[in-house]
Amino acid sequence: NYPTNEQNHLTIDHVDAVDLASTYGTPLYVYDVTKIRQTMRAFKAIFEKENVPYIVSYASKAFATKAIYQVAQQEGIHADVVSGGELYTAIQAGFNPKHLSFNGNNKSWDELMMAVQQGIGTVIVDNFLELQLLSEIAEKCQVVQDILLRISPGISAHTHEFISTGQQDSKFGFDLLTGQAKAAYDIASQDSHFHLRGLHAHIGSQIFDVTGFEKNAALLADTAQSWGWQPDIINVGGGFGIRYTDDDEPLPESDYVSAIIRTLKGKAAEYDWKMPEIWIEPGRSVVGPAGQTLYTVGARKDIPDMRHYIAVDGGMGDNIRPALYEANYEAVLANQPNIPAQEVVRVAGKYCESGDVLVWQQKLPKTQAGDILSVLATGAYGYAMASNYNRNPRPAVVFVENGQHQLVVARETYEHIAALDRDYTLSANMTH
Ligand code: LLP
Repeated sequence: NYPTNEQNHLTIDHVDAVDLASTYGTPLYVYDVTKIRQTMRAFKAIFEKENVPYIVSYASKAFATKAIYQVAQQEGIHADVVSGGELYTAIQAGFNPKHLSFNGNNKSWDELMMAVQQGIGTVIVDNFLELQLLSEIAEKCQVVQDILLRISPGISAHTHEFISTGQQDSKFGFDLLTGQAKAAYDIASQDSHFHLRGLHAHIGSQIFDVTGFEKNAALLADTAQSWGWQPDIINVGGGFGIRYTDDDEPLPESDYVSAIIRTLKGKAAEYDWKMPEIWIEPGRSVVGPAGQTLYTVGARKDIPDMRHYIAVDGGMGDNIRPALYEANYEAVLANQPNIPAQEVVRVAGKYCESGDVLVWQQKLPKTQAGDILSVLATGAYGYAMASNYNRNPRPAVVFVENGQHQLVVARETYEHIAALDRDYTLSANMTH
């Protein structure tokens, strides 16, 4: 059962979803900020309860806008960025640069320079070129930069191949099995431009069991110990799975995090270490379940004995995940959420491509053109991966909290779409 009001409309944190659609237009990304805050607090509470030093760093690639950086900051959460663009957005949002970390396998000189000049807290160094560039930049700017070294742990988590990042055949991090990680440690620990604080490894995304996280945490501790080093920080990345449909059975966040804490407490005791600060980088689990996308239903196509297609006014430009990963979502009829489902349909978008699907197959009430359909749990990697395919403007983003709503990203217009285009004026009468 979905939350509704007197008009029997779907509500999102006490705001009428149909009203939101008419106020801001569709497609529309809507985030329940109460839910985001609850998740952020829940992550922190687990560490507080276990009484271990920690940092929760929101992996902002999942959804990077000024507004979310501001919420994270209010909640005492750090953030991880993976590009100059995310870094810029965070700084524009007024985010404390000391609370930012910077991941990525091919950070450019300009990006690293910007990060150091902004006074970024931690750079998570991924490769030998970066060690060299960052050392030069630190020298130029006369800073000693806090860094972690990113390791490819050689652990493959059970998830889609394209979103799994921890296996040995990976573009990310220093390879452990061939001695590259140790070579990086030797360089980093001897370079006076660096303050080497610890190790990082991320095993993948949308993961449903704790074993990969336990193995990863243990491996990072064992690795440091084998180098005779007591790290200040162990960063185990993100990847905690969420429920998109009833086929997904994620564990509560506390299970993953408790397992990581238990493992590292054990290692600290075994190696007689001061308890290292544990860093986690959740992205999807923070914003995914809190976001939904509202669409207006348009055309339908019924192929007898085969399929009913319901088309909406958005699609792969605002949510590429079904097309890219065969991801599944659940939809709800926002103007009548709790009436019985009657027909099995496929919800398709408006893009000129057959793979442009939002919901592969779901039983829904009979819909009509003009109905408002909400696709649930689109808060992570939806807006973040949106495009202007077919020259469709990207939707607006609205935050709701306690019965109030606020536009946090304006809807793109056709003017934005063509703003960077330039006329072509060279002639076809070539002289050469
Ligand atoms: N830390 C690092 C180093 C990462 O590479 C990632 C995700 C995260 C943290 C956050 O993982 P999360 O908690 O969100 O699972 N576009 C794909 C997901 C790619 C994830 C890449 N790295 C999708 O839509 O499923």
